Amino acid sequence: MQFKLRHTATSFPDALIVPVAQQTGLEAVLSLVADLTDTPIELLKSDFKAGARELQTLYFTEENKRKRLYLLGLGESPRTNDVLNAFRSLVFKRKANLPTKLGLSFLHKNAPENPAPWVEAAINGLLLGRYDIGLYKTDKKPEDGFDPDKFHVEVLVDAPHLEVATVAVQRGQAFAQTHFEVFDLVNAPANKKTPQVLADWAVASGKQHGYAVEVFDEEKIVKTGLHALHSVSKGSEHPPTFIVMEYKPKGEALRKIGLVGKGVTFDTGGLSIKPSTNMHYMKSDMGGAAAVLGAIEMAAKLQLPIHIVAAIPSTENSVDSLSTKPGDVIGSYQGKTIEVIDTDAEGRLILADGLTYIVRNFAPDVLIDLATLTGSTIRTLGTYAGGLFSNNDDLVAQLNQAGERTGERLWRLPLWDDYNKELKSDVADLKNFSGSPAAGAITAAKFLEAFIEKHPAWAHLDIAGMAVADSEFASQKSATGFGVRLLIDYMHSLMEEA
Ligand code: BES
Ligand code: MN
Ligand code: ZN
Repeated sequence: MQFKLRHTATSFPDALIVPVAQQTGLEAVLSLVADLTDTPIELLKSDFKAGARELQTLYFTEENKRKRLYLLGLGESPRTNDVLNAFRSLVFKRKANLPTKLGLSFLHKNAPENPAPWVEAAINGLLLGRYDIGLYKTDKKPEDGFDPDKFHVEVLVDAPHLEVATVAVQRGQAFAQTHFEVFDLVNAPANKKTPQVLADWAVASGKQHGYAVEVFDEEKIVKTGLHALHSVSKGSEHPPTFIVMEYKPKGEALRKIGLVGKGVTFDTGGLSIKPSTNMHYMKSDMGGAAAVLGAIEMAAKLQLPIHIVAAIPSTENSVDSLSTKPGDVIGSYQGKTIEVIDTDAEGRLILADGLTYIVRNFAPDVLIDLATLTGSTIRTLGTYAGGLFSNNDDLVAQLNQAGERTGERLWRLPLWDDYNKELKSDVADLKNFSGSPAAGAITAAKFLEAFIEKHPAWAHLDIAGMAVADSEFASQKSATGFGVRLLIDYMHSLMEEA
């Protein structure tokens, strides 16, 4: 797609998209649109309520040509992901006959004073609308695909915001590219996505975007003492990987941020095997890793002045005679011994090693891990927010604000020490599961806390309910890319603070 920024429409495109929210200025926009399209305002007002993703097609004449006008609803006080999803939905619905000369109007009073965040989300969504989940279909006809190269998109904003909107368009494009790759990773089935595949992805991305990647193979994992990661991998024919990444800005860094992502490429539960209903979704048990990979790639693309160090412990959790057994006692990089009561509580084991590794070897100012860690978080928050656990109120405030702005929301849950007694083992330093389903998300977080070496600014994001979601784009749940926009927005807020 080719994008041009304008402050007035030069010649009208073949279709003008007008995004509108249920907020002040809606009436004014509707009356302009009613005039332009010669539609009775009362009819327009009764047919179009600006609900989220609502699409109303109207027609107008310009230079003797009949043209389309798409009114696109954004819902009530939209966050940027509502804008993104509305545009994604429009393209998805109309891609068969979408005119290739498009205009996007942010000129009206219903858009924010500075429309840049809307512009970024709109471009991001516009491009994601053509995401094709049929990765492995053999009967794909070329004409099925919609050809983005044919599109010319004119973005209309008022003159004072041309410059910020230009940057926003570039960012929207950059996000969409990374989102495509992250979606493909999360949606890929486990037989196409081994721990080595995640490592290869990181290496290729690091080369392309300029950040360092080191991949530990099984031998190095054992030698380094990442015993907890290794114990989870024992039942799989695919060896584990431990992916260490570092992005260093060219100039001075504002902050050093440590990221850790859970990279379980398939979670059968191990010998504590899961029921088969919905087990296929456990191919997405690397959603935390995907968020970390996407975030470091985006930070490098955007050249953020933030130093990022990241680790992805990656493994399959499988069933075999060699699998770790319930009751086994294993070691950890930190040195503590762990009694594995339930082999399905594997995420906390591999994250434990990742967290200690990052703290000991890189001493970041802030430590954030993302993981599809517990079903308990889904029972608590549903698919509306990720669980947030942290020992630092400022970090909580910053992450919550980033969540509100991006719509990738988080909700804090407690980390009181009282919960530690759930993790006391008779035979080892701690156990990985209390044996009771009560407060499962919290006890998992308390387990992780035992491995952060008392780091003063740690946040754990349990994104089990957010990494995949139902949508209009697929019949099954599919990847959301949750965490990428959240983390980048958080890093941006650090830049504004500075
Ligand atoms: N990967 C799962 C958590 C999960 C469940 C993610 C559903 C996405 C959707 C995790 O490894 C797991 O199995 N957790 C167990 C822990 C329990 C055995 C203590 C759970 O939440 O049931
Ligand atoms: Mn599990
Ligand atoms: Zn898991």
